[in-house]
Amino acid sequence: MADAKIIIFDDGPIQIDGPISVADENGKEIKVVAGESVFFCRCGASTDKPFCDGSHQDCAFKSKLTK
Ligand code: FES
Repeated sequence: MADAKIIIFDDGPIQIDGPISVADENGKEIKVVAGESVFFCRCGASTDKPFCDGSHQDCAFKSKLTK
């Protein structure tokens, strides 16, 4: 299995490239296969948390990776 790749977008979501497995606290699992990605919300405005729904583009969210 390849290492997971994580990309933090300026003023936007966190992208994680598969293959990875994401689960909620009850064990409900979402598999992200190789060649697919999942995007997690950082701005708090998504109506589909924890996933990004593009709302960061309308809420003036600003955050840049500085280190
Ligand atoms: S980062 Fe995209 S909706 Fe929050």
